[in-house]
Amino acid sequence: MPGTLLTPRHAELDILDASGTREALRALRPTHVLNTAAWNAVDAAENEPQRAFALNADAVGMLAETCQSLGARLVHFSTDYVFDGAKRTPYTEADAPNPLGAYAASKLAGETLARERCEHALVIRVCGLFGIAKSAGKGGTNFVETMLSLARQGRALRVVADQVLGPSYTLDVARIVWRVIASGHTGLCHVTSAGATSWYDFAREIFRLEGVQPSLTPVSSEEYGARARRPLYSVLAHDALRALGISEPRAWQPALAAYLADRGAVSDSARRGS
Ligand SMILES: NC(=O)c1ccc[n+]([C@@H]2O[C@H](COP(=O)([O-])OP(=O)(O)OC[C@H]3O[C@@H](n4cnc5c(N)ncnc54)[C@H](OP(=O)(O)O)[C@@H]3O)[C@@H](O)[C@H]2O)c1
Repeated sequence: MPGTLLTPRHAELDILDASGTREALRALRPTHVLNTAAWNAVDAAENEPQRAFALNADAVGMLAETCQSLGARLVHFSTDYVFDGAKRTPYTEADAPNPLGAYAASKLAGETLARERCEHALVIRVCGLFGIAKSAGKGGTNFVETMLSLARQGRALRVVADQVLGPSYTLDVARIVWRVIASGHTGLCHVTSAGATSWYDFAREIFRLEGVQPSLTPVSSEEYGARARRPLYSVLAHDALRALGISEPRAWQPALAAYLADRGAVSDSARRGS
């Protein structure tokens, strides 16, 4: 797909500023608009749902309308949390969502607005991301880095063992997303690393691969006591990818090993100043 990729930062393009964003997009006349901006503080959203809905839903509706008027495709990112976790087999794109909390409800509202207002919108659902860029909205970290940092501080760790997910390496997700965009697919598409695990077993694998042996205790979601309810099972099936003839990403374990190697290489080259 030849073309120019622009990656404006929040400070350069604030999508809560509807008129400024419309004006910027009209001037650029993009073929595709990829929206990765989100209010993703899942627990804080319970107390400030209006902030979650403003960014995760209203701004998405504005982007969708603007894309439609420009003949551009909106590619919007959503979440496994749109599901309630009542199933015990991977959720397909055809399964009915039923969000449990304010963040999840706002993301589902964003999916709906994207698809209602932009004819060729593509909504990619991802899950449990870990990647070199980390998550700005989660304090500039990711689960892998949080676990390693707490373990290296000698902290005793309690990790939720009754929520099952598909942890996903952002590099693998990004590579597949480009192929899905190039396919012209519209509607929903799940893109996650293959396989499933609990947060607790994910943590165990991180420590095994890094040779770290912290004090690690499995706890239930109830014992952990997070403010927002989360699905106990949110593994995403890859039916849309299969229908497009795109192989699903590798399993989360080799993806995690690759991430740990890649992050090591990035920090080595940063130390060397290259
Ligand atoms: N992280 C996960 O595990 C996970 C799981 C499932 C789904 N997702 C979804 O995946 C997507 C990416 O998540 P992420 O965790 O990678 O996000 P992230 O790192 O927090 O990135 C979100 C970006 O949005 C920017 N932003 C915030 N408000 C904005 C605004 N008004 N206008 C323009 N940009 C704005 C932020 O910039 P500043 O930091 O400068 O404010 C930040 O760069 C989201 O749709 C999220 O719901 C993520």
